[in-house]
Amino acid sequence: MTKRLGPGDIDQAARMIRAGELVAFPTETVYGLGGDAANDRAVAAIFEAKGRPHFNPLIVHVADLEAAETLARFDERARRLARRFWPGPLSVVLARRDNAHVSLLASAGLDTLAIRVPAHPMAQGLLRAAATPIAAPSANRSGRVSPTTAAHVASELDGRIAAILDGGPCTVGVESTVLDLTGERVRMLRPGGLPLEAIEAIAGPVMAAAGADDGARPRSPGQLASHYAPSLPLRLDVSSVRPGEALLAFGPDVPPDATATVSLSASGDLVEAAAHLFAALRALDRPEFSAIAVMPIPEHGLGRAINDRLRRAAAPRPALAGGGEEG
Ligand code: TXA
Ligand code: MG
Repeated sequence: MTKRLGPGDIDQAARMIRAGELVAFPTETVYGLGGDAANDRAVAAIFEAKGRPHFNPLIVHVADLEAAETLARFDERARRLARRFWPGPLSVVLARRDNAHVSLLASAGLDTLAIRVPAHPMAQGLLRAAATPIAAPSANRSGRVSPTTAAHVASELDGRIAAILDGGPCTVGVESTVLDLTGERVRMLRPGGLPLEAIEAIAGPVMAAAGADDGARPRSPGQLASHYAPSLPLRLDVSSVRPGEALLAFGPDVPPDATATVSLSASGDLVEAAAHLFAALRALDRPEFSAIAVMPIPEHGLGRAINDRLRRAAAPRPALAGGGEEG
């Protein structure tokens, strides 16, 4: 079911990405599980294929700095790092441009975007042929280690994705270094294939992942200081709507009495629901409503990740800076 493709099949792999299918591809760090980052459903399908119980933001891959600049706001420091280390094992987190053609689900609803330009020639070939940004977490099932050969990918994702592009073993073998460039000081969110010393030579002192000198809670790989959460209160598992509430609906049997309703999926399709989740929350998060009432979402497949995010958004938030964390 999952096609095995080689270096001669880049165009075919690119067509699959354009068609919204998932293709695992080699980078110099680890294999990525790629989907069209501009396509909400393709991004939702990535989470489903990985079996992730929650949505965390994915790295968006592009062919070069020029393409990256269309998605996020680079300052001189970010450009210096990009010119020195791209293509290569570096991902940078920057403010997302308002008009960036990237699914909100890819950045888990955040206003920032993690971007990477991989060096592997087949990754470069795929990005150029697909001519769209490719969202790609490591191509393993949730909770497993990152794959560094096509055979590793096949052992976990065979039958769950359209194709695996085989580019041989990865040369770096650990994930990219992730740097948060949104603050005054550079912060290392995840140590990886690009060493700290090389970064500091270009960008000056870097705060460690667990750096607490700004009062923020410690971050470790996969953790974030804040997640997108609506400012309105959320009421979960509702079967009827109170006056003034907006309704986040799921499935065909929608209570008729809401001031405003946005449906995650009228047919009850969880992949479609995940694809619409963050845009729907943003659409309903308006001061004229008293709360967002949320219909029950089944607790299986992508429903688990959707419910995880809704529960976090519904929980009392002590302070903005500590708003959430990845489990
Ligand atoms: O080497 C790699 O980086 C591989 C290859 C395929 O490129 N990709 C990878 O992706 O490891 P993933 O999804 O497994 O890891 C993404 C990391 C996570 O630690 C995530 O929290 C962080 O990047 N991240 C992504 N977007 C972020 C954002 N907007 N803000 C902060 N952290 C972000
Ligand atoms: Mg991973």
